[in-house]
Amino acid sequence: MSSRPPVCLVIGAGAGIGGTVGRRFAAEGYHAVLCRRSDQQGLDALVAEIQAEGGLASGFLLNAVEPDTIENLVTSTESTIGPIDVVVFNLGAQIGDRALLETSYKSFEMCWRLATFGLFRAATAACPIMAERGKGSFLVTSSTAAVRGNAGQHAHAAAMGGRRMLCQSLNAEFGPKGIHIAHILIDGAVDAPDTLGKMLGPDMFQALRETRGMEHDGLMLPDKIADTYWHLAQQHRSTWTHEMDLRSFTDRPWWNH
Ligand SMILES: NC(=O)c1ccc[n+]([C@@H]2O[C@H](COP(=O)([O-])OP(=O)(O)OC[C@H]3O[C@@H](n4cnc5c(N)ncnc54)[C@H](OP(=O)(O)O)[C@@H]3O)[C@@H](O)[C@H]2O)c1
Repeated sequence: MSSRPPVCLVIGAGAGIGGTVGRRFAAEGYHAVLCRRSDQQGLDALVAEIQAEGGLASGFLLNAVEPDTIENLVTSTESTIGPIDVVVFNLGAQIGDRALLETSYKSFEMCWRLATFGLFRAATAACPIMAERGKGSFLVTSSTAAVRGNAGQHAHAAAMGGRRMLCQSLNAEFGPKGIHIAHILIDGAVDAPDTLGKMLGPDMFQALRETRGMEHDGLMLPDKIADTYWHLAQQHRSTWTHEMDLRSFTDRPWWNH
């Protein structure tokens, strides 16, 4: 038996869901292995905050669409940090609304690479290792687009729908081997400065926070989302949740728009 603490590997760890979930698992005794594409400073700050709170964390910059990056991250985490007990696959693929003829082949393919193929690669690298130990959780952040296409969402919805189906197929194979795969549909806007914040720009994001966020609770708070991820990873295998949706109390659900 390894005496090293279990690892929570977060693929896509910004200041929103990814980093906050990693921080939550670190507070519960996990070694949080956090990766993101850019912003070394933000990554270092998050690692330092977790360590200052008495937790274990490591951070890596990588571009997950590059060949072998996810695979090498899994292998090196297992060999140098500890056994991966939880994977949080959190890469998004939202490129904003684009009409069909404004959706290039390249951007369509990039969404698939991030949302669908990225998950396939992470699962191919991590699931067999976890299955050998007979336990583990694979928590996959997803979005409304996984269950509902919409105007301008050709690339995003196709990629996220594929992600959802991949989760179901992974569950069928790896559930019986002890791996809990959960598809977590984030059905609304998150208070996430590194994704939604960048897409909207600082002024619009601040206005959104002031009108819907903060004390209004109309933006989903990463801390509260992290509670759900922690709960999922604790579920007994006789009652696993395979899919769930989260939305703010003021939002209408995806099927009611
Ligand atoms: N934010 C929302 O309103 C919202 C709504 C519905 C669903 N979601 C889902 O939530 C998840 C994202 O969570 P979040 O919005 O709270 O963001 P977050 O966890 O704050 O950040 C996600 C991180 O993913 C990283 N990333 C993106 N592309 C990458 C790549 N090629 N290689 C490595 N890292 C990469 C980004 O890194 P860099 O910043 O360094 O580039 C970003 O910081 C996605 O699955 C998305 O579909 C979000």
